[in-house]
Amino acid sequence: MFTKLASQSDLPGLNEAKEFPCGGKTVCVANVNGEISAMENTCLHRGGPLGQGVISGGKVVCPWHGWEWDPKTGEAGPPGAKVAVYPVKIEGGDVLVEM
Ligand code: FES
Repeated sequence: MFTKLASQSDLPGLNEAKEFPCGGKTVCVANVNGEISAMENTCLHRGGPLGQGVISGGKVVCPWHGWEWDPKTGEAGPPGAKVAVYPVKIEGGDVLVEM
């Protein structure tokens, strides 16, 4: 089921990431070249807040130690490192995610 995460006007700017609370979790929303993706916000290395990172080369860079996360697949460099990715859609000015 899709639930409202934010208003479209709250989305991160071009090639930026941002974190949003949702249902007791925090979601990292990334805008890569205008394409919006949502994934789990907590870095699997030491728990860094991915939504506070920058985007480099299409990846969200963890602000703590620099692991690079692909917001479309939820994968980072180290083999097996993968966070949940959530389907996103925008409807009537609302950003909806399926968690
Ligand atoms: S906590 Fe993310 S790279 Fe270390």
